[in-house]
Amino acid sequence: MVQPVHITGVGGYLPERILTNAELASLVDTTDDWIVERTGIRERHIIAGNQHTSDLAVEAARQALDDAGLKPSDLDALVVATTTPDMIFPSTAAVVQSKLGASGFPVWDIQAVCSGFVYGLAQITGMMEAGMFRRVLLVGAESMSRILNWKDRTTCVLFGDGAGAVVLECMDGEGGIMGSVLNADGSYRPLLMAKHPHPGASPDMPDMRIDAAGIAAIEMRGNEVFRTAVNKLGEVVGQVLEHCHTEVSDVDWLIPHQANIRIINATAKKLKLGTERVAITVDKHANTSSASVPLALNTYYREGKVKEGQLILLEAFGAGFVWGANLLRWTKG
Ligand code: ACO
Repeated sequence: MVQPVHITGVGGYLPERILTNAELASLVDTTDDWIVERTGIRERHIIAGNQHTSDLAVEAARQALDDAGLKPSDLDALVVATTTPDMIFPSTAAVVQSKLGASGFPVWDIQAVCSGFVYGLAQITGMMEAGMFRRVLLVGAESMSRILNWKDRTTCVLFGDGAGAVVLECMDGEGGIMGSVLNADGSYRPLLMAKHPHPGASPDMPDMRIDAAGIAAIEMRGNEVFRTAVNKLGEVVGQVLEHCHTEVSDVDWLIPHQANIRIINATAKKLKLGTERVAITVDKHANTSSASVPLALNTYYREGKVKEGQLILLEAFGAGFVWGANLLRWTKG
């Protein structure tokens, strides 16, 4: 009989360096008021010059493994969702495995941009339910600051760096991951892209990176991204609830991709979900792409807001466009 897949450990990590809106206003023509009003973002964390995406992932992974009471050698697989890998190859997952001092199980990266964690959760759950693995670590980790043009006020204010992780285990008992719905439409790709490989190791201070801008930088048509995100997220959330024979009124927490508070609020309104049931952490770390959903989950879990037996809805939307949602019953206590 197929055992359900449960989240048994959660972790998160934000690099030490905090970049406030006020500091950004000294780099580009913007203000704290504009950023807060249009996005809900107040500050973001920036990776240090001697850190890579894998270092952020390792910190989050260690916390999630501790939380689950497991060692790296207990894992059957390790997956990293990232759009800012340490290098083109090997995978960031291979680097993370090595930095954790483990070997002897498969590792791979997932590239679904901001939807990487939601895609990863769906993929791994399917593989675990098929009997391939019993214990898997899934990390979403990003150093978005390395692919930003720090002269472009329309994009550089929106993103930050960080990592979040979960340990997934097959175990007896009710609950766990109930279902997922994924979707994509690649014809939307001109609306949001980073065309070139990112420059790799680079100084940590954004003002020192201005000369590097242009090597790799996010280009975005923000208004169109906004509108499409709200529509597709509303749609996919409805689909996952239907797939799991559940109603939106049963949902205890929506833990959405933390891109912009206005996208989050507009999606919640469309779903008729009260904002008191919506997790918000975008103010503290801006859009950390694939790390944002597990970072928000980690915050709400550690603050004791996510409780045993609650119904949790995760959703994300990213460049491609690719989007998806997962529904789960929280069993970690
Ligand atoms: N500071 C001050 N003014 C700014 C800034 C800034 N940082 N950025 C843009 N402006 C100006 C514009 O130049 C424009 O000026 P104008 O009227 O003189 O031409 C004015 O503000 C309004 O610009 P809009 O683009 O219309 O502003 P909007 O309300 O759409 O907000 C934003 C822009 C925040 C980017 C919004 O469109 C958005 O959030 N889109 C979604 C983008 C997103 O989240 N992408 C992340 C990746 S995808 C995902 O994760 C969902």
